[in-house]
Amino acid sequence: MCGIVGYVGGQSALDVVVAGLKRLEYRGYDSAGVAVLADGGLAAAKKSGKLVHLEKELAERPLAAGSVGIGHTRWATHGGPTDANAHPHLDNAGRVAVVHNGIIENFAALREELAERGHELLSETDTEVVAHLLAEEFSSVGDLAEAMRLVCRRLDGAFTLVAVHADQPDVVVGARRNSPLVVGVGEGENFLASDVSAFIAHTRSAIELGQDQVVELTREGVVVTDFEGAPADVRAFHVDWDASAAEKGGYDHFMLKEIVEQPKAVADTLLGRIDASGRLTLDEVRIPDAVLREADKVVIVACGTAFHAGLIAKYAIEHWTRIPCEVELASEFRYRDPILGQRTLVVAISQSGETMDTLMALRHAREQGAKVLAVCNTNGSTIPRESDAVLYTHAGPEVAVASTKAFLTQLVACYLLALYLGQVRGTKWGDEIRAVVRELARSGEEVERVLETMEPVRALARSLAHKDTILFLGRHVGYPVALEGALKLKELAYMHAEGFAAGELKHGPIALIEEDLPVVVVVPSPKGRSVLHDKIVSNIQEIRARGARTIVIAEEGDDAVVPFADHLVRVPATPTLLQPLVSTVPLQVFACELATARGNEVDQPRNLAKSVTVE
Ligand code: G6P
Repeated sequence: MCGIVGYVGGQSALDVVVAGLKRLEYRGYDSAGVAVLADGGLAAAKKSGKLVHLEKELAERPLAAGSVGIGHTRWATHGGPTDANAHPHLDNAGRVAVVHNGIIENFAALREELAERGHELLSETDTEVVAHLLAEEFSSVGDLAEAMRLVCRRLDGAFTLVAVHADQPDVVVGARRNSPLVVGVGEGENFLASDVSAFIAHTRSAIELGQDQVVELTREGVVVTDFEGAPADVRAFHVDWDASAAEKGGYDHFMLKEIVEQPKAVADTLLGRIDASGRLTLDEVRIPDAVLREADKVVIVACGTAFHAGLIAKYAIEHWTRIPCEVELASEFRYRDPILGQRTLVVAISQSGETMDTLMALRHAREQGAKVLAVCNTNGSTIPRESDAVLYTHAGPEVAVASTKAFLTQLVACYLLALYLGQVRGTKWGDEIRAVVRELARSGEEVERVLETMEPVRALARSLAHKDTILFLGRHVGYPVALEGALKLKELAYMHAEGFAAGELKHGPIALIEEDLPVVVVVPSPKGRSVLHDKIVSNIQEIRARGARTIVIAEEGDDAVVPFADHLVRVPATPTLLQPLVSTVPLQVFACELATARGNEVDQPRNLAKSVTVE
């Protein structure tokens, strides 16, 4: 979703802003623009398409040099991705420029009102009204931060706004309601951005902005107030990621790099979570043990890949703690009047910590008295800040739109949470917990082994690049893995891909099977749960008898599947519940390679955004 950068300092604002926008490219966008204050005026450029188009425009028609500027990558909501709709938007005098992330819901009424007062609006966006309103307010109060506060009070919806005014040339002003905005604090320079990756090359000191706050940035300092002008409380934090963590590091795509980083991400997420006596110590879980003991239901809310992590977590939570667990798409959750109370523990899973659907779901849950725990990868983001507790995943920055390492670390965090609940509630003995944690600790190495054997999977993906449809089947925790495999393929290869519970096949989907249709089957461990294993072997035979080309993902040593597998992908043997940590990895590699073979942009698939900050 839209990326925002603001800069005030001693460097070329254009260079800093464009470099920052490049680091935000992963969020997904379809046009870009910049504005710089220089020579007593304001210069702006904007272009539909990717940043290269904007850079070409800037090379052909350079802007005057200045050290205060703003920039934006836009993911179209109101109005198509045209040059005119790209941000920044200016007032008619060309003195104020504004960029925006979110949706201003009352923009139509404001637009009408401005037209009546003689303003000429040139785009189809909701954002443009803000530039005009800011210009009006500035002309009466003479201060951009105050003008911003006055304007914000008139806006409905979700918005991050960043603006500059040519008559106050040493200031950048930002405002935040619901959409993300973080301050980067430098020496003689300060930054504003949608997330820290835009400025970590310059500073790792950051400030979280809260809801309904306005921030004024000068070279010398940062002043934060609420929308009424009262000083606001803010939290400073240090960014652990370094700039190189957000670079491609020699890989063709961020996604490949992030797939390869998974063993480390898994290990980092486990780090420091067990004390010397082998007890889990999840320090960030600030919800008192008494409350966790009393919980009578766990409800997981999430979107996309994080939702699939939630589906897997349900198996572990229910098996290890015996607490009923529901998993719900965050976008559906609050609109069905869910039954929640003080004994409900809601778990919001989100890589970005900014997904609007998930944020709205957690707010609804808290309003109903439930305790909310976030599983999140992004320090300083909104979802952990608004939750009662947080369990951070330590995947490092995930840049590719299609989530990989964040997913695996979400699984690890959810397993830890389930074990912790078991520890607190006494449904799991200490030695049982230690045994699972040992298995979790081994899983990083197992992922490494899977990654070492991926060449045949890549070759297979290339050979299937011409196909229209690929199906995925699984049972138990393999079912969400099948859903995730299909989602990855949809996202990246733009292919018809569907995941099914293998047992459900005979109730409809089997009609889809035809000669040479590729079907990926995630086979559960043959040990311990042989019923499940035998049943899926039967399912493989059923589809093969109808002509399917079977691609079987099965544990090393599982010989029963060999006769029925047209292609066999081996993964290390793991305890059943932990198998998704290894069985997802070939599906990620498969989708990435197939997308590449189809000539698709792997890191920024069409129409998608990394962080979806609208409902
Ligand atoms: C978007 C992304 C998905 C992601 C989902 C949830 O749709 O394209 O890859 O899984 O949002 O994101 P979150 O940041 O909340 O995990």
